[in-house]
Amino acid sequence: MVSLVTTGSRVVSGMRPTGSLHLGHYHGVLKNWLRLQYEYECFFFIADWHALTTHYDDPSDIQRNIIEMTIDWLAVGVNPASVTLFVQSDVVEHAELHLLLSMITPLGWLERVPSYKDQQEKLREKDLATYGFLGYPLLQSADILLYGAAAVPVGEDQVAHVEMTREVARRFNHLYGREENFEKKAKRAMRQLGEHNQELYLDARRRYQEQGDTEALEAGRRVALASARLTVADRDRLMGYLEGTGRTILNEPEALLTPTPKVPGLDGQKMSKSYGNTIGLREDPAVVEKKLRTMPTDPARVRRTDPGDPRKCPVWDFHQIYSDDDTRNWVMEGCTTAGIGCIDCKGPVIEAVLEELKPIRERAVPFEDDHEAVRAILNEGREQARDDARETMEQVRAAMGLED
Ligand code: TRP
Ligand code: SF4
Repeated sequence: MVSLVTTGSRVVSGMRPTGSLHLGHYHGVLKNWLRLQYEYECFFFIADWHALTTHYDDPSDIQRNIIEMTIDWLAVGVNPASVTLFVQSDVVEHAELHLLLSMITPLGWLERVPSYKDQQEKLREKDLATYGFLGYPLLQSADILLYGAAAVPVGEDQVAHVEMTREVARRFNHLYGREENFEKKAKRAMRQLGEHNQELYLDARRRYQEQGDTEALEAGRRVALASARLTVADRDRLMGYLEGTGRTILNEPEALLTPTPKVPGLDGQKMSKSYGNTIGLREDPAVVEKKLRTMPTDPARVRRTDPGDPRKCPVWDFHQIYSDDDTRNWVMEGCTTAGIGCIDCKGPVIEAVLEELKPIRERAVPFEDDHEAVRAILNEGREQARDDARETMEQVRAAMGLED
């Protein structure tokens, strides 16, 4: 897939408020966010409504989890001065867009999303034969489309949701982007660009339509986006005119799949709260050290003199993340020849994990003592997010005949 996402584009991502985060979140998601935050215009939000789609029977922890998770975000270095951080349910437009999109979303699209059946199987102790659970990928679509995201950083398991979001946007634009005299209106909008940019725009459009040149498409979009003189409706027309015959009211996002290392839990399974095998980002160093010291190793190494195989050992997975080649060679050699013991082997990992967590724990302290400050950051984000959400909803309502 050719990526159309350029620097400065908008990126949207959400996370369920599951409470305190662990190393799996850090290496799997948060480090990626840290990279994105200075390159893109990022909107990161706490998906509290999403939490209710599976945990509707126990909402008692949501408020505490929201605060704890926000503290973790801030502690790892998510910077509220450059990122918009907010709580999903603080911006009710997510719900309104979800409702309106539900009118045009075929049931089959939702039933076909792989996570629908998977999660029902996995969480069999819960009754997930609910309307909210079936609709949750569409709620995610609303989260994304509300802010005109160009890209959504997600893991493998969420790619199908972004795909569905694209289909929903396409269907929406197809149904509501058509208008009388579209061509005439697009040309009128083009004149607002000024002579030079109009030429660039037309050239990009021709190259895209004749040769399928996706870079030209992106160049055309940039020209339209850069013009301060256009109304939102005219900008949508110009975006749509590049590709076809209608306005692009909702932008099709791309999945931004970044390869992330597998973070093993202390038992070799994936690190996850439900397996009880985590290392928390703000956990006490003595506890972290003890957890690592006592974590299982290759079962073949019963005695210190038994050789082992790192590939059968969860500690080896930690070395993949934390150690350099030299250390890894030392492990491979020492383990297979019984030259080193497991406690020796764990040494560099313990040191590296503690070193990684130290600044995180320190940065969290002022926020742990001042939840009001955390709330204030989320409230500021809420205002920024609302401004954008309202603008999109005006377009959406008008397109669906709900507003002039
Ligand atoms: N569904 C995601 C998850 O369960 C969280 C999420 C909600 C999200 N809305 C989103 C992720 C929008 C990216 C974009 O992990
Ligand atoms: Fe695992 Fe290291 Fe022990 Fe080998 S020496 S079994 S890699 S902890």
